[in-house]
Amino acid sequence: MGSMQTSVQGWHTAITPLAVLIVIVLQVLALKAGWSQELAPPQLNEEFTKQEKIYRSQGADVPSGYVTNRGLSDYAQLLPSGFCDALARLGNSDRWLDIGAGDGQAILDYYRAQYDAAAENCGRSGTRARAVAMSIEDRRTKKWQLEAAILGGDRIQYVSGKRLREYSREELGKFQIITDVYGGFSYTEDLSRFVNQVLSLLEVGGSFYTLVQNVGLENGKGKANSSYQTELVDSAGRDVNVCSWLKQTPCVQVGCESKSDWDSPTELINIRKLCSDGSVAHTNLLKYEAGNPPGRHFQLEP
Ligand SMILES: C[S@@+](CC[C@H](N)C(=O)[O-])C[C@H]1O[C@@H](n2cnc3c(N)ncnc32)[C@H](O)[C@@H]1O
Repeated sequence: MGSMQTSVQGWHTAITPLAVLIVIVLQVLALKAGWSQELAPPQLNEEFTKQEKIYRSQGADVPSGYVTNRGLSDYAQLLPSGFCDALARLGNSDRWLDIGAGDGQAILDYYRAQYDAAAENCGRSGTRARAVAMSIEDRRTKKWQLEAAILGGDRIQYVSGKRLREYSREELGKFQIITDVYGGFSYTEDLSRFVNQVLSLLEVGGSFYTLVQNVGLENGKGKANSSYQTELVDSAGRDVNVCSWLKQTPCVQVGCESKSDWDSPTELINIRKLCSDGSVAHTNLLKYEAGNPPGRHFQLEP
């Protein structure tokens, strides 16, 4: 009995610190991944793992729909109409952040326009703002490395290895323009946190330009059936379009251009920050299916 007690106690003292350590490690992992305090259910975990594979894919393994080399002319076509003019108005010490920049081609094109008369007209002006390309995976090309070396200093920067939400405001600083072309806005599993982080990184008066495809449009046109890649419902389960959700936010002005005649209904979105205290209504993730972009269902908190 005595020896039994000793061995049970021994097991206890060995397991308790181990159990505590496991719990701590799991919590840290969950927080790193951005799940709101809870651990993701196994099915979600599977989808996140598949998604991670898409991000990390290289060469022939990159799925054909995962395009990472769109240039500035593509950005001009895909982003809301004021984007090119806003880019052209930036001064030498202003800053542009491209979230989900892939190869960073749009930023390279923007800088090339300085010395190449045939280059894209979007954003063309006498001065160039400083630009930061952000990507989860490092997709810098030789062209990027060369241009960064020629320009020197911090004219163009490439940050990778984590998601937008994992950066502190001090690490990134503030920006006059933030863009996102099939980047974090289309891929994140935590939409409200993503938008709030964007808002916190914008200067007052600055703008966020993005788009989201296969989504319920503000103008009510688009697909007859309501199964979209990105879906949003209110707390009672009723459909909400992304624009009307964003338009409830204080301190911002939201412009939406509904493209119901594109291959898939797409909303082009411009969010202008008017003052510092705006944050969007919280979204919870209901469903996530890996893809390019992934399928996501969100529910608004009451
Ligand atoms: C399909 S690529 C688009 C690249 C580029 N914008 C283009 O149009 O060619 C998606 C990019 O978004 C990035 N991305 C996805 N979610 C992100 C997040 N939460 N934070 C930062 N980058 C993200 C990926 O790492 C990748 O660079």
